[in-house]
Amino acid sequence: MSEKKSTVIIVDGDHPPILTDHSDTILESLEKQNIEVHYHCREGFCGACRSKLISGEVDYKTDPLAYIDDDEFLPCCCIALGDIKIKLV
Ligand code: FES
Repeated sequence: MSEKKSTVIIVDGDHPPILTDHSDTILESLEKQNIEVHYHCREGFCGACRSKLISGEVDYKTDPLAYIDDDEFLPCCCIALGDIKIKLV
């Protein structure tokens, strides 16, 4: 049985949409496509990877401790629940 993949659309830059599944965080999926994202802790503490979630939903694998605004998310510790549209900050 194949796992459902979600599409991540990045609105800034020239990046084509990428596919992600529940085994990879969004950060890992972006890295596999050589898309540069700022990060440090990779565990939801530092906020370095903070990005804008324009549409869609994400699910956190671990509870994020870094402060984020309502329209932001931490790609290092979450997966996409369906297709999402994001902006890298
Ligand atoms: S890299 Fe630290 S919160 Fe994502």
